[in-house]
Amino acid sequence: MNYNIALLKGDGIGPEIVDSAVKVLEKIGAKYNHTFNFTPYLIGGCAIDATGAPLPEETVKGCLASDSVLLGAVGGPKWDTLPGNLRPEKALLGIRAALELFTNLRPAKLYPALKGASPLRADIVEKGFDLMIVRELTGGIYFGERGRRDGKYGPEAYDTEAYSRMEIERIGRVAFETAMKRDKKLVSIDKANVLETSRLWREIMHEMSKEYPEVEYSDMLVDNAAMQLVKNPRQFDVIVTSNMFGDILSDEASQITGSIGMLASSSLGNTKRGLYEPIHGSAPDIAGQNKANPIATILSAAMMLRYSFDLSEEAKCIEDAVDRVLEKGYRTADLLGGSNETPLTCTEITEKILEEL
Ligand code: IPM
Ligand code: MG
Repeated sequence: MNYNIALLKGDGIGPEIVDSAVKVLEKIGAKYNHTFNFTPYLIGGCAIDATGAPLPEETVKGCLASDSVLLGAVGGPKWDTLPGNLRPEKALLGIRAALELFTNLRPAKLYPALKGASPLRADIVEKGFDLMIVRELTGGIYFGERGRRDGKYGPEAYDTEAYSRMEIERIGRVAFETAMKRDKKLVSIDKANVLETSRLWREIMHEMSKEYPEVEYSDMLVDNAAMQLVKNPRQFDVIVTSNMFGDILSDEASQITGSIGMLASSSLGNTKRGLYEPIHGSAPDIAGQNKANPIATILSAAMMLRYSFDLSEEAKCIEDAVDRVLEKGYRTADLLGGSNETPLTCTEITEKILEEL
């Protein structure tokens, strides 16, 4: 089969890690007889430099015309002082909205080989954990009305959160279905003791839970959830939450696995086309130095094979190769913790993964 993939390398370490994932996909293509055609498009800071806009029209069109999208990361200090609507991050929100990708799946599992890299106490990580965050991605406060105005104490800024029944139901549906395919446990995380959007969210999740009697459903307040994640991550299977809470909790969930450099994500809508990206950022401090960990992007490419192209055997082949490389003790700098071993570079660990495919 032939698959057209739009590549959004972006900024910072984005190009390095996307190049690694492309090598992995090419090898998988050769092994299983698929052709992956890659077309690069600009996004983020590099797009601002080249065109003046963080998300050029051509990029949106190219993504819409592709079978799926692989993204590196966007942003960096060079563009940090631009006004909000011209920032690289705006492009990320924009492309998610343009492709109607309302679901963001962020799995966080502890690799046995990386237990030592987790900042959690040994007795907490001993038995491992494997959870899936289902984050709402195109609504809530990141997309609400915002601005500046004169307030009671003078000039002020505001952001607003709105969630419609439709938006909550559709993400809830994905979460319950995801739970059905896993351990059938779902925790919905909100701030219903304060926020009206959370109260509607909770009401709807409760209604939906009646349709899924097999799923063990519960609610948790977000502040408690932040604590529970470090106290006992094993209690979680699937988590469903709003855009902002999911943004925050997924960084926390990733760090307890050992490194944010490991975590993949997929953003999905109602079609097979998805946007796959590591959950980490553009790491400007190490950009261009061949130090980045490409695993999160490589695992994102595996998710693309599974969710967009229904190539689960090929996806598993990549995931197993990553497992073996870690089992053999190969580490990029982020995975070394305090040890003084010499880390592998981005291209070196990519080579190791290619050898295992
Ligand atoms: C993420 C990032 C983005 C988000 C930013 C860069 C807009 O933090 O993908 O988690 O908040 O979604
Ligand atoms: Mg984030």
